[in-house]
Amino acid sequence: MTEPTAGSSTDVDWEALRLRAVELMERAYAPYSHFPVGVAGLVDGGRVVAGCNVENAAYGVALCAECGMVSELHATGGGRLTAVFCVGSDGQALMPCGRCRQLLWENGGPECLLMTPEGVLPMTAVLPQAFGVDDLRHAHG
Ligand code: THU
Repeated sequence: MTEPTAGSSTDVDWEALRLRAVELMERAYAPYSHFPVGVAGLVDGGRVVAGCNVENAAYGVALCAECGMVSELHATGGGRLTAVFCVGSDGQALMPCGRCRQLLWENGGPECLLMTPEGVLPMTAVLPQAFGVDDLRHAHG
């Protein structure tokens, strides 16, 4: 496959990211939901991190694909996610669940781009008025 290349948000190789996400989706461990998910993210600096969902007989313990991707992000040196492509079994864009949007916000911030079924959107559109580290710094009351 073609390695996704580093660059500004406007020249992300979305097809390379999608293909990496499909590779991970094919490795998902989803014997309970039969709903495999794969995700790939471009990191500032140029590397790509990825993940797949990993389920458990204790259903609530399931790990979303994004959890694996964020774990790889930190395990391989950290950095900020700049572009993310999440796919389902059809290999097409799948919207991350609410919890995973929060993970993307923490690790990519408002400028991080997400491929959605409606095209590329910034995280500000995907998770409006997101709770983040700034909220921890502003005590209320
Ligand atoms: N899933 C993900 O991996 N990421 C998401 O953003 C949505 C849901 C997984 C969790 C579970 O293994 C399966 O999809 C069905 O919910």
